[in-house]
Amino acid sequence: MNFTGKTALVTGSGSGIGKSIALMFAQAGANVAINDVSQKDADSTAQEIESLGREAISIFANVAVQEEVREMFESVKSTFGQIDILVNNAGITRDGFLMKMTEDQWDQVIDVNLKGVFNCCKFAARMMSERQYGKIINIASASAQMGNIEQSNYAASKGGVISMTKTLAKELAQFHINVNAVSPGFIETPMTEKVPEKVKEYLIQQIPLGRAGKPEDVGNVVCFLASDQAAYVTGQVISCSGGMYVLVYKDFMVTDLTTANLSQEIMTKAKAFGAGVSTGLVNDIPSVAELVSRIASDAEKIIQERISGLSRRIEPGVHERRSLRREGNTCHLSVF
Ligand SMILES: NC(=O)c1ccc[n+]([C@@H]2O[C@H](COP(=O)([O-])OP(=O)(O)OC[C@H]3O[C@@H](n4cnc5c(N)ncnc54)[C@H](O)[C@@H]3O)[C@@H](O)[C@H]2O)c1
Repeated sequence: MNFTGKTALVTGSGSGIGKSIALMFAQAGANVAINDVSQKDADSTAQEIESLGREAISIFANVAVQEEVREMFESVKSTFGQIDILVNNAGITRDGFLMKMTEDQWDQVIDVNLKGVFNCCKFAARMMSERQYGKIINIASASAQMGNIEQSNYAASKGGVISMTKTLAKELAQFHINVNAVSPGFIETPMTEKVPEKVKEYLIQQIPLGRAGKPEDVGNVVCFLASDQAAYVTGQVISCSGGMYVLVYKDFMVTDLTTANLSQEIMTKAKAFGAGVSTGLVNDIPSVAELVSRIASDAEKIIQERISGLSRRIEPGVHERRSLRREGNTCHLSVF
């Protein structure tokens, strides 16, 4: 890729995927505007870009606030005179089980992840349309395509980003502006650092390519979409998830079955793993404890009957589309 003479703005580029994208653009010759709500992190990315011999500016702005975004685009215009590439990367999570999610958790995520993309696209499109050239790349998420427990706010925001991408591709094609989305799966960044080790291990088991993604994996797809090699690609959502999104069903690991005190062990571990998982799946059971104890007793039955490697229904008729499955020492609750 060669971005010599181009100007890119990457939101949320003080860390993680955004930082990686900004550096990759600079390595390929672009000048880059760095945006973040952490001035320190934005300054640090900008300095790294300058050390590569490119121009960079560091802009503190909250993408959720339209006035701050308007000022950010004015700074880009006065510094570089143009914008060729916008990457809407800034994003946050405020996870919680639906029944416990606060209005604030919902609003914050929608404001940054969805309204932020609207705000930035609006001002970028005005500048790009004047020059009849532009590339907009929105960072979505596999959570939007697959659903993800405790992320109703996040999945909804990213689903909105995907819908907006398709609509803007149609609206802005007349100005020769391409609009696409990249949908990452599980990528190692500060955002995913807080995921417990055991859950990370489990998630990686669900990835056909057998590893978590790196920020550069996402950056490579973004660079392609920002390049003129992708001139005839618009309105698309490119998954960058190591095959995670291809899966058509999802397993939730309940516990290790080797321990002597099975029921107690299952209850404790299932709760630790995320009791919300269970209540989220089975809506006719009033309490998590009751569900977990039913799972435990069914798991014991499965072992007693020495059924291995085969799916077995629990409570046919009620949970027709869910099953417990034993695989080695692990018991899975599956949802088809
Ligand atoms: N890491 C993953 O596994 C993963 C998976 C799918 C999608 N994504 C998406 O990729 C993007 C980058 O995520 P990441 O993992 O690098 O996260 P990150 O937390 O490492 O980086 C996000 C950056 O955005 C900045 N930011 C947050 N709110 C902002 C706001 N209002 N205005 C401007 N900047 C703001 C943060 O300060 C941070 O520097 C996000 O949109 C995220 O939803 C990440």
